[in-house]
Order: sequence, then C-alpha cells, then structure tokens
Amino acid sequence: MTETPTKKCKQIQPTILVHGGAWTIPHSLSKPYVNGVQEAVKKGYEVLCRNESAVDAVEEAVRYLENDPTFNAGTGSALNIEGDVEMDAIIMEGKNLQSGAVTCVQNIKNPVSLARLVMEKTDHTLLAAQGANQFAAEQGIEQVNTDELVCEKSLEMLREKKKYSVTVGDQFRQGKCHDTVGAVAVDASGNVACATSTGGITGKRVGRVGDSPLIGCGAYCDNNFGAVSSTGHGESISRVTLCRTIIAHMEQGLSPQDAAEKALSYMTTKVQGSGGVIVVSNQGDIGMSFTTIRMAWASMQDGRVCYGLDPGQKIEAKKC
Ligand code: GLY
Repeated sequence: MTETPTKKCKQIQPTILVHGGAWTIPHSLSKPYVNGVQEAVKKGYEVLCRNESAVDAVEEAVRYLENDPTFNAGTGSALNIEGDVEMDAIIMEGKNLQSGAVTCVQNIKNPVSLARLVMEKTDHTLLAAQGANQFAAEQGIEQVNTDELVCEKSLEMLREKKKYSVTVGDQFRQGKCHDTVGAVAVDASGNVACATSTGGITGKRVGRVGDSPLIGCGAYCDNNFGAVSSTGHGESISRVTLCRTIIAHMEQGLSPQDAAEKALSYMTTKVQGSGGVIVVSNQGDIGMSFTTIRMAWASMQDGRVCYGLDPGQKIEAKKC
C-alpha cells in the first residue's frame, strides 16, 4: 500500500528587526544606540513569543525606543525652528493593508500607539496636529507636558543649526540630524507589520510633514511579500516612495537585502538623498541597508539577537 505523502508547510520563524535611525552617530553615542536597539528588539520578540501579533510586536518595540531619550522619537524628539516638538508616526499591518498614522502631534508620549488607534478606531489613515491630539484625548491616550519630551541634546542640535544657519537638506547631508526609529516583524502565522516614529528633522518649518507618517514612504507592508521601515532625509524618501519601492522589488523576486540596496541606490542617484531601511520577508528573511555613515539596527530570530552600527557590521549578541 502506498502512503499518501504529507504536505509539509514551512514553519515561519517569528522575526523582528528594529532601527534607531540612520545618520552620523558619534562614537560617544555608540553604546546607548546599540544597547537601545537590542533592548527594543527583545521587547518586540517577547511579544511574538507570547503568540501575539506582528502589529503588537512592532508597537511594543517602537514604544520602547520612543521612551528612550537617546533616540529621535517620543521623548528625545528633534525640535522644529520654533523649538517645539512635532512628531510623526505610522503603523501598518500586511493582511488587509490597514494603516494608521499621525503627524505634527505634540504632548503625546507614544505617537505609535496613537497611530494604532487611528488604524483601529477610525475610518481614516492619517490624523494631523490638533485633530490628532483631540482624538488622543477622546481615546484617553497618555498626554504629557511638552517639556517632558525635550532633551538637552535636542536643544543643543537646534542651537547648532541656528548658529550655522544650514538648510535642513544640507544638515542631513552633513550627517547632523539624529533620525527616526522603526520596527518590522513577521509572526508565526505569517502576518507582517511595520511601524515608524520620529521627531523629524531639527529646525524644520512648523507644520512640516516628513516621510515617516506617509504610507509607502516611512513604512509599508504586505503579507504577500514582507514589511519595511525607513529612516533618513524625509523629502528624498517621499519622492521615491522608498518602502513601497522595496516591496515592488521583492514582488519581482529580489531578496529583502537586494531590494533594500537597489531602492537606496536609486534614491542616491535620482534625488541625492541618504537614509536607511530594515526589511523582513513573509518567510522571515531579513535585509538592512543604509547610505548614511551609520545606522543602529538589531534583529531577533530563533532566540538570537544580532545588531550593527557600521556598514557591513553584524554582531551576534551574547546570550544572557
Ligand atoms: N525621516 C524622518 C524625517 O525626515 O522626518
């Protein structure tokens, strides 16, 4: 008697990657940066291990980075030209392409969680400024005094920007902008998600909206392919719809790594913009690339943490 062959399904390894921004991270900040991204990736991975969703995992990881003043998101956000905090965030899930985002919000401790409420509790994909804060109040989300989000480092960067009166674009080209946090994940069910959060660029105009809260620019995901989160010069990223472009390359059969490199290279040649991305495929294959001097990133899969800061660097963290 012949045995019916059992159909083997590939088990998806829950996987998460985070970034803490692509820019010229000074050596004095190397340690807080690599420690921060490793802690954030562990927080997100714990969520995946509890069999919660990829959306839960990316929100958890990004909340951790928003609460760490080392990074330019939530507490520690960059300041606009008036010295105010105006934050952007997005979250997206890959099954039904649901997405929520907020832009130019103030007084919000964790903009990524407000973005998630926009996704889950409204008919909209993006709420701005006062309307977003009003929605936050309705939802009972934590609001804080703006002073609590402002750090000495952000004030110093604004003083520098005003002293040398460089343009925002040049500032970025000179690597003087600390930039953005994000996370991408695939859970055991094969659902992907992404989230990105930022204070934007130091000295930006009041009301400036960067790439981060825009679908396809600051983040994009689709269960058919994978998930992407970006960091870098927002205007350049928006012009090339960086994250959606990477997914399009994956649709053509490129690996996450090749797709990331190809899209960033296009951004360099086409609009002379620099930045970085993290990518995970729906099978748990990962990619990360940046065209800035450094980008802090960490990944976790099969209980192992890897991280890096310099080009080509991939270090496996010791198990604790
Ligand atoms: N990438 C963040 C921004 O330009 O606002």
